[in-house]
Amino acid sequence: MIKQLFKSKISLMLLKFIVIISGFFTFISTLVQVYIDYRTDLSTIQRSITQVKDGYSHSIANSLWHLDTEQIKVQIEGILRLRDIEYIKIIERKRGKTSLFIEKGEKNITRKLESRFNLRYGKNTNNIIGEVVIHVNLDHVYERILDRFFIILITQMVKTFLVSFIILFIIYITVAKRIIKIGNYAKRLGHQNIEEELIDTPPNISTVNELDELVLSLNLMRTNLKNYLNNRDEAEEQLREYKTHLEDLVMKRTKQLNDKNELLEQKLREINTMQDQMIAQEKLASLGNLTSGIAHEINNPLNFVINFAQISSHSATELKAKIEKLNQLSQDEKAVLEKELEDISTMTKEITTHGRRAENIIKSMLEHSRSSELSQEKESIDIHEILEENLNFAFHAMRAKYRGFHVNLTKDFDQSIPQLMLSKPDIARVFLNLFSNAFYSLIKKSENKSDDNNDFMPELIVTTEKKNGLVTIKIKDNGLGIDKELIEEVFNPFFTTKPAGEGTGLGLSLSYDIITNIHSGNIAVNSEIDQYCEFIIQLPI
Ligand SMILES: Nc1ncnc2c1ncn2[C@@H]1O[C@H](COP(=O)(O)OP(=O)(O)OP(=O)(O)O)[C@@H](O)[C@H]1O
Ligand SMILES: [Mg+2]
Repeated sequence: MIKQLFKSKISLMLLKFIVIISGFFTFISTLVQVYIDYRTDLSTIQRSITQVKDGYSHSIANSLWHLDTEQIKVQIEGILRLRDIEYIKIIERKRGKTSLFIEKGEKNITRKLESRFNLRYGKNTNNIIGEVVIHVNLDHVYERILDRFFIILITQMVKTFLVSFIILFIIYITVAKRIIKIGNYAKRLGHQNIEEELIDTPPNISTVNELDELVLSLNLMRTNLKNYLNNRDEAEEQLREYKTHLEDLVMKRTKQLNDKNELLEQKLREINTMQDQMIAQEKLASLGNLTSGIAHEINNPLNFVINFAQISSHSATELKAKIEKLNQLSQDEKAVLEKELEDISTMTKEITTHGRRAENIIKSMLEHSRSSELSQEKESIDIHEILEENLNFAFHAMRAKYRGFHVNLTKDFDQSIPQLMLSKPDIARVFLNLFSNAFYSLIKKSENKSDDNNDFMPELIVTTEKKNGLVTIKIKDNGLGIDKELIEEVFNPFFTTKPAGEGTGLGLSLSYDIITNIHSGNIAVNSEIDQYCEFIIQLPI
């Protein structure tokens, strides 16, 4: 117990302060007390001296007057018995002279208090016959004072220590011990012993002090902690449940997503197939659009071919008859014959030319209707030839559909452009689409303008130019133009402003592919609504 008491740091700290502070006050109070004692002793001495003066001066003066030395000695002995008076001398004064009459006691006192009084005789108080000198030894006073000082100090100190120890003990019992217990409890408090309550209320103390409040607070904290832990456990349990649920959900969703993905992939495949089909259909449709134009186009040369062939055959029959009678013919008739022969030769040339025309048309038609795959096989091509071919092709196709369609055509070809290595069917497809788009726009604008009774002259300008290792082809029409907001979209697949059945919106997207991917070129568009539309193609030489 005592050992524990001295282990308690708070008790030791209190003990230290109590000892220092009470020691200081004990010392001060002892000093005050000793000083008071000292003053008392001094006044006692003063009183004894007064007592000697009052009690002995008359009888000593008497004895001195009568020179009764024995009597004086008796009186001096009596005075010397008084406390602390250790020396006395009597000085006689006769006719103005003084002389030592008698002295007794210790003369050499180091610390002394000297007191003198005169001896008078008779009624005349001015008759001084001698003087008494008394020495009081102050050493005794000091010794007593010192002894008292130590006694008081020691008793006070002992008292202080005793009181301090008792206070320490009380503090240990009422505070430190409880704090240690509370501390140990707080250290121990955890998940395992959360049910254990802190019981620490000294039964004989009725009033609630700060420590009791601390115990109450700790118990409250324990209850809160318990509730918190319970809630946490519940939450964790719930979280575990959620997690399991979530995992199930994720698995389910993943499966659903996978299913959806598969579905999407399948749909994508279907869309791709549909797209391929649409491309093929678009080609067929444009071919359909062109068929009537082509028919008309082929019809003309065929008419020529047929007419010239008939005339040639007729001329040939005539010639045959004439050749039979060749020798009978006159000079003029021979000349006519030669002329006819020349005509036949001219006509056969015409037949060949128009036959070639029909052949070319059929060729380009065949090229256009080739498989939907972009061919990518390149050959040396005259860009102007292919431009002309497709311009004619598109124009006649349009003319066949929209009778009376006219266009002011301006061609500005740079003849220095060399043969280019191009994929002919693909490039043809690009130009055909560009010309068809331009003519369509011009036709629609003409229709609109004729509604407004406005004069509008459709124009198409085709220019080629060689510059910086590039061939630039510009196709510009003064048709409807393209809205600013839509211009970004024209190269997107399926973007079309044409009514259903008239366009698929794949023309420019295919053209973009052909120019950029197959020919490493560039295609761009400039336009202002209702003013013009210009497509610019750049191809590397
Ligand atoms: N010269 C032009 N003038 C005005 N608009 C144009 C011109 N060229 C293209 N466009 C616009 O761009 C759209 C897309 O053209 P694209 O050639 O890709 O498809 P389309 O012509 O509509 O259909 P398809 O080419 O399959 O017949 C057209 O519908 C039209 O709105
Ligand atoms: Mg088009």
